[in-house]
Amino acid sequence: MSKEKIVESLLGQTTQKKKSRIPARLDFLQSATGLFLAIFMIFHMLFVSTILISKDFMFSVTKAFELSFLFEGGSSIPVFITILVVFIIFIFHAFLALRKFPISYREVLRLKTHSDLMNHGDTKLWIIQVGTGFALFFLGSVHLYIMLTNPGNIGPYASSDRVYSDMMWPLYIMLLAAVEFHGAIGLYRLSVKWGWFEGDDPKKSRKRLKKAKWILSAVMLTLGVATLLAYMKIGAEHQANYGERYIPQIEVQNAN
Ligand code: HEM
Repeated sequence: MSKEKIVESLLGQTTQKKKSRIPARLDFLQSATGLFLAIFMIFHMLFVSTILISKDFMFSVTKAFELSFLFEGGSSIPVFITILVVFIIFIFHAFLALRKFPISYREVLRLKTHSDLMNHGDTKLWIIQVGTGFALFFLGSVHLYIMLTNPGNIGPYASSDRVYSDMMWPLYIMLLAAVEFHGAIGLYRLSVKWGWFEGDDPKKSRKRLKKAKWILSAVMLTLGVATLLAYMKIGAEHQANYGERYIPQIEVQNAN
Protein backbone atom coordinates (compact mmCIF):
# COMPACT_ATOMS: atom_id res chain seq x y z
CA MET A 1 0.00 0.00 0.00
CA SER A 2 1.40 3.39 -0.90
CA LYS A 3 2.08 6.03 1.75
CA GLU A 4 -0.70 8.20 0.30
CA LYS A 5 -3.24 5.36 0.46
CA ILE A 6 -2.36 4.62 4.12
CA VAL A 7 -2.80 8.33 5.04
CA GLU A 8 -6.07 8.43 3.07
CA SER A 9 -7.45 5.33 4.83
CA LEU A 10 -6.48 6.76 8.23
CA LEU A 11 -7.98 10.18 7.50
CA GLY A 12 -10.93 8.80 5.58
CA GLN A 13 -10.42 11.39 2.87
CA THR A 14 -8.34 11.82 -0.27
CA THR A 15 -4.94 13.50 -0.10
CA GLN A 16 -5.13 14.40 -3.82
CA LYS A 17 -5.52 18.14 -4.13
CA LYS A 18 -8.82 19.02 -5.76
CA LYS A 19 -8.28 21.04 -8.93
CA SER A 20 -9.52 24.57 -8.32
CA ARG A 21 -12.29 25.75 -10.60
CA ILE A 22 -11.41 29.39 -9.98
CA PRO A 23 -8.94 29.83 -12.94
CA ALA A 24 -11.55 28.46 -15.37
CA ARG A 25 -14.21 30.77 -13.93
CA LEU A 26 -11.88 33.78 -14.14
CA ASP A 27 -11.07 32.82 -17.74
CA PHE A 28 -14.76 32.66 -18.58
CA LEU A 29 -15.39 36.06 -16.95
CA GLN A 30 -12.50 37.56 -18.88
CA SER A 31 -13.93 36.24 -22.14
CA ALA A 32 -17.45 37.43 -21.27
CA THR A 33 -16.37 40.97 -20.27
CA GLY A 34 -14.10 41.13 -23.35
CA LEU A 35 -16.96 40.11 -25.62
CA PHE A 36 -19.24 42.70 -24.03
CA LEU A 37 -16.64 45.46 -24.49
CA ALA A 38 -15.90 44.44 -28.11
CA ILE A 39 -19.61 44.54 -29.03
CA PHE A 40 -19.98 47.81 -27.11
CA MET A 41 -17.10 49.32 -29.13
CA ILE A 42 -18.77 48.41 -32.44
CA PHE A 43 -21.98 50.18 -31.37
CA HIS A 44 -19.95 53.06 -29.85
CA MET A 45 -18.31 53.60 -33.26
CA LEU A 46 -21.68 53.52 -35.02
CA PHE A 47 -23.12 56.15 -32.64
CA VAL A 48 -20.05 58.42 -32.59
CA SER A 49 -19.71 58.28 -36.40
CA THR A 50 -23.25 59.63 -36.90
CA ILE A 51 -21.47 63.00 -37.08
CA LEU A 52 -20.40 61.93 -40.61
CA ILE A 53 -24.06 61.96 -41.67
CA SER A 54 -24.97 65.31 -40.11
CA LYS A 55 -24.77 67.39 -36.93
CA ASP A 56 -28.55 67.09 -36.59
CA PHE A 57 -28.38 63.30 -36.74
CA MET A 58 -25.64 63.10 -34.09
CA PHE A 59 -27.67 65.53 -31.96
CA SER A 60 -30.78 63.34 -32.15
CA VAL A 61 -28.77 60.20 -31.22
CA THR A 62 -27.35 62.05 -28.18
CA LYS A 63 -30.83 63.18 -27.16
CA ALA A 64 -32.13 59.59 -27.50
CA PHE A 65 -29.45 58.46 -25.00
CA GLU A 66 -30.61 61.24 -22.69
CA LEU A 67 -34.09 59.69 -22.98
CA SER A 68 -35.56 62.95 -24.28
CA PHE A 69 -38.61 60.94 -25.40
CA LEU A 70 -39.38 60.36 -21.70
CA PHE A 71 -38.14 63.57 -20.05
CA GLU A 72 -38.60 67.05 -21.46
CA GLY A 73 -35.19 68.13 -22.85
CA GLY A 74 -33.56 64.83 -21.75
CA SER A 75 -31.48 63.97 -18.70
CA SER A 76 -27.77 63.23 -18.35
CA ILE A 77 -28.43 60.66 -15.58
CA PRO A 78 -29.01 57.67 -17.95
CA VAL A 79 -25.82 58.62 -19.81
CA PHE A 80 -23.92 58.79 -16.51
CA ILE A 81 -25.23 55.34 -15.47
CA THR A 82 -24.28 53.82 -18.86
CA ILE A 83 -20.74 55.23 -18.64
CA LEU A 84 -20.40 54.04 -15.02
CA VAL A 85 -21.46 50.47 -15.96
CA VAL A 86 -19.05 50.42 -18.93
CA PHE A 87 -16.24 51.83 -16.75
CA ILE A 88 -16.77 49.15 -14.08
CA ILE A 89 -16.74 46.36 -16.70
CA PHE A 90 -13.65 47.95 -18.30
CA ILE A 91 -11.80 47.96 -14.94
CA PHE A 92 -12.92 44.42 -14.13
CA HIS A 93 -11.76 43.18 -17.55
CA ALA A 94 -8.36 44.87 -17.04
CA PHE A 95 -8.10 43.41 -13.52
CA LEU A 96 -8.74 39.89 -14.86
CA ALA A 97 -6.19 40.45 -17.64
CA LEU A 98 -3.50 41.28 -15.07
CA ARG A 99 -3.13 37.53 -14.39
CA LYS A 100 -1.80 37.05 -17.92
CA PHE A 101 0.69 39.93 -17.99
CA PRO A 102 4.42 39.07 -18.01
CA ILE A 103 5.55 40.28 -14.58
CA SER A 104 9.28 40.77 -15.02
CA TYR A 105 11.68 42.00 -17.66
CA ARG A 106 13.13 38.47 -17.81
CA GLU A 107 9.69 37.10 -18.63
CA VAL A 108 9.27 39.68 -21.41
CA LEU A 109 12.67 38.69 -22.89
CA ARG A 110 11.79 35.00 -22.71
CA LEU A 111 8.51 35.68 -24.48
CA LYS A 112 10.24 37.65 -27.24
CA THR A 113 12.82 34.91 -27.80
CA HIS A 114 10.06 32.30 -27.87
CA SER A 115 8.04 34.33 -30.37
CA ASP A 116 11.09 35.00 -32.62
CA LEU A 117 12.20 31.38 -32.54
CA MET A 118 8.81 29.87 -33.21
CA ASN A 119 7.74 32.61 -35.64
CA HIS A 120 4.24 31.72 -34.46
CA GLY A 121 1.55 34.14 -35.69
CA ASP A 122 -0.80 33.63 -32.76
CA THR A 123 1.97 34.26 -30.20
CA LYS A 124 2.74 37.54 -31.97
CA LEU A 125 -0.95 38.47 -31.85
CA TRP A 126 -0.99 37.69 -28.14
CA ILE A 127 2.00 40.01 -27.59
CA ILE A 128 0.24 42.82 -29.53
CA GLN A 129 -2.85 42.23 -27.41
CA VAL A 130 -0.89 42.53 -24.16
CA GLY A 131 0.83 45.73 -25.41
CA THR A 132 -2.37 47.41 -26.60
CA GLY A 133 -4.15 46.24 -23.44
CA PHE A 134 -1.48 47.93 -21.32
CA ALA A 135 -1.95 51.19 -23.30
CA LEU A 136 -5.73 50.92 -22.85
CA PHE A 137 -5.37 50.91 -19.05
CA PHE A 138 -4.30 54.56 -19.30
CA LEU A 139 -5.86 55.88 -22.51
CA GLY A 140 -9.26 54.28 -21.92
CA SER A 141 -9.38 55.41 -18.29
CA VAL A 142 -8.70 59.05 -19.20
CA HIS A 143 -11.51 59.05 -21.80
CA LEU A 144 -13.99 57.24 -19.55
CA TYR A 145 -13.27 59.50 -16.57
CA ILE A 146 -13.76 62.64 -18.68
CA MET A 147 -17.04 61.28 -20.09
CA LEU A 148 -18.19 60.22 -16.62
CA THR A 149 -17.66 63.69 -15.22
CA ASN A 150 -19.25 65.37 -18.28
CA PRO A 151 -22.24 63.18 -19.18
CA GLY A 152 -24.28 66.20 -20.27
CA ASN A 153 -21.48 67.51 -22.47
CA ILE A 154 -21.91 65.29 -25.51
CA GLY A 155 -23.16 66.66 -28.82
CA PRO A 156 -22.04 68.00 -32.20
CA TYR A 157 -20.40 71.13 -30.74
CA ALA A 158 -19.62 69.89 -27.20
CA SER A 159 -17.80 66.81 -28.57
CA SER A 160 -16.02 68.75 -31.32
CA ASP A 161 -14.86 71.39 -28.83
CA ARG A 162 -13.47 68.65 -26.61
CA VAL A 163 -11.73 66.90 -29.53
CA TYR A 164 -10.23 70.08 -31.03
CA SER A 165 -10.02 72.92 -28.47
CA ASP A 166 -9.51 70.69 -25.42
CA MET A 167 -6.84 68.81 -27.39
CA MET A 168 -8.32 65.36 -26.95
CA TRP A 169 -7.49 64.33 -30.53
CA PRO A 170 -3.91 63.11 -29.86
CA LEU A 171 -5.26 60.84 -27.12
CA TYR A 172 -8.12 59.68 -29.37
CA ILE A 173 -5.69 58.71 -32.19
CA MET A 174 -3.71 56.48 -29.82
CA LEU A 175 -6.87 55.17 -28.15
CA LEU A 176 -8.46 54.40 -31.51
CA ALA A 177 -5.42 52.42 -32.75
CA ALA A 178 -5.05 50.54 -29.45
CA VAL A 179 -8.73 49.68 -29.09
CA GLU A 180 -9.30 48.56 -32.68
CA PHE A 181 -6.29 46.19 -32.74
CA HIS A 182 -6.98 44.98 -29.21
CA GLY A 183 -10.68 44.39 -29.88
CA ALA A 184 -10.27 42.62 -33.22
CA ILE A 185 -7.46 40.36 -31.92
CA GLY A 186 -9.57 39.70 -28.82
CA LEU A 187 -12.56 38.61 -30.90
CA TYR A 188 -10.30 36.39 -33.06
CA ARG A 189 -8.78 34.73 -29.97
CA LEU A 190 -12.22 34.26 -28.42
CA SER A 191 -13.47 32.54 -31.58
CA VAL A 192 -10.45 30.21 -31.65
CA LYS A 193 -10.63 29.52 -27.89
CA TRP A 194 -14.32 28.67 -27.76
CA GLY A 195 -14.44 27.08 -31.21
CA TRP A 196 -16.92 29.53 -32.71
CA PHE A 197 -17.32 29.37 -36.51
CA GLU A 198 -15.17 26.23 -36.56
CA GLY A 199 -15.92 24.24 -39.70
CA ASP A 200 -14.65 20.78 -40.71
CA ASP A 201 -11.15 22.08 -41.36
CA PRO A 202 -9.79 24.00 -38.30
CA LYS A 203 -6.75 25.26 -40.26
CA LYS A 204 -8.96 26.74 -42.95
CA SER A 205 -11.37 28.30 -40.47
CA ARG A 206 -8.47 29.87 -38.52
CA LYS A 207 -7.22 31.42 -41.76
CA ARG A 208 -10.71 32.77 -42.46
CA LEU A 209 -11.00 34.18 -38.94
CA LYS A 210 -7.64 35.93 -39.30
CA LYS A 211 -8.86 37.56 -42.51
CA ALA A 212 -12.07 38.66 -40.77
CA LYS A 213 -9.97 40.13 -37.95
CA TRP A 214 -7.94 42.26 -40.38
CA ILE A 215 -11.08 43.43 -42.19
CA LEU A 216 -12.73 44.43 -38.89
CA SER A 217 -9.64 46.40 -37.78
CA ALA A 218 -9.36 48.13 -41.18
CA VAL A 219 -13.06 49.10 -41.34
CA MET A 220 -13.14 50.36 -37.75
CA LEU A 221 -9.88 52.30 -38.13
CA THR A 222 -11.02 53.93 -41.37
CA LEU A 223 -14.38 54.88 -39.89
CA GLY A 224 -12.66 56.07 -36.69
CA VAL A 225 -10.16 58.31 -38.50
CA ALA A 226 -12.91 59.79 -40.72
CA THR A 227 -15.03 60.46 -37.62
CA LEU A 228 -12.16 62.05 -35.74
CA LEU A 229 -11.39 64.30 -38.73
CA ALA A 230 -15.05 65.37 -38.86
CA TYR A 231 -15.02 66.36 -35.16
CA MET A 232 -11.72 68.21 -35.66
CA LYS A 233 -13.07 70.17 -38.63
CA ILE A 234 -16.24 71.18 -36.74
CA GLY A 235 -14.14 71.96 -33.63
CA ALA A 236 -11.78 74.21 -35.63
CA GLU A 237 -14.69 76.09 -37.22
CA HIS A 238 -16.41 76.41 -33.84
CA GLN A 239 -13.34 77.50 -31.88
CA ALA A 240 -14.41 81.16 -31.66
CA ASN A 241 -17.69 80.07 -30.07
CA TYR A 242 -16.19 77.43 -27.76
CA GLY A 243 -18.75 76.21 -25.20
CA GLU A 244 -21.82 77.21 -27.19
CA ARG A 245 -24.22 74.25 -27.56
CA TYR A 246 -25.67 73.00 -30.83
CA ILE A 247 -29.22 73.98 -31.78
CA PRO A 248 -30.84 71.67 -34.36
CA GLN A 249 -31.85 73.19 -37.71
CA ILE A 250 -35.55 72.67 -37.13
CA GLU A 251 -35.44 74.77 -33.93
CA VAL A 252 -33.45 77.51 -35.70
CA GLN A 253 -36.06 77.59 -38.49
CA ASN A 254 -38.95 77.67 -36.00
CA ALA A 255 -37.32 80.54 -34.12
CA ASN A 256 -36.98 82.63 -37.31
C1 HEM B 1 -20.34 54.60 -22.15
C2 HEM B 1 -19.05 54.88 -22.36
C3 HEM B 1 -18.59 55.80 -23.44
C4 HEM B 1 -19.15 56.93 -23.94
C5 HEM B 1 -20.47 57.58 -23.52
C6 HEM B 1 -18.29 57.44 -24.98
C7 HEM B 1 -18.54 58.55 -25.74
C8 HEM B 1 -17.73 59.07 -26.72
C9 HEM B 1 -18.01 60.26 -27.48
C10 HEM B 1 -19.25 61.13 -27.34
C11 HEM B 1 -16.99 60.44 -28.34
C12 HEM B 1 -16.82 61.59 -29.37
C13 HEM B 1 -15.77 62.57 -28.92
C14 HEM B 1 -16.09 63.25 -27.59
O1 HEM B 1 -17.24 63.59 -27.32
O2 HEM B 1 -15.13 63.44 -26.83
C15 HEM B 1 -16.06 59.34 -28.15
C16 HEM B 1 -14.91 59.12 -28.86
C17 HEM B 1 -14.10 58.04 -28.73
N1 HEM B 1 -14.20 57.03 -27.80
FE1 HEM B 1 -15.69 56.81 -26.45
N2 HEM B 1 -17.21 56.62 -25.10
C18 HEM B 1 -17.34 55.60 -24.18
C19 HEM B 1 -16.48 54.55 -23.98
C20 HEM B 1 -15.33 54.32 -24.71
C21 HEM B 1 -14.43 53.21 -24.50
C22 HEM B 1 -14.59 52.12 -23.45
C23 HEM B 1 -13.43 53.35 -25.41
C24 HEM B 1 -12.24 52.50 -25.64
C25 HEM B 1 -11.57 51.95 -24.66
C26 HEM B 1 -13.73 54.53 -26.22
C27 HEM B 1 -12.96 54.99 -27.27
C28 HEM B 1 -13.19 56.13 -28.00
C29 HEM B 1 -12.40 56.56 -29.13
C30 HEM B 1 -11.19 55.84 -29.70
C31 HEM B 1 -12.95 57.75 -29.58
C32 HEM B 1 -12.50 58.57 -30.80
C33 HEM B 1 -13.49 58.28 -31.87
C34 HEM B 1 -12.97 58.26 -33.26
O3 HEM B 1 -11.80 58.40 -33.53
O4 HEM B 1 -13.79 58.02 -34.13
N3 HEM B 1 -14.88 55.09 -25.76
N4 HEM B 1 -16.54 58.52 -27.15
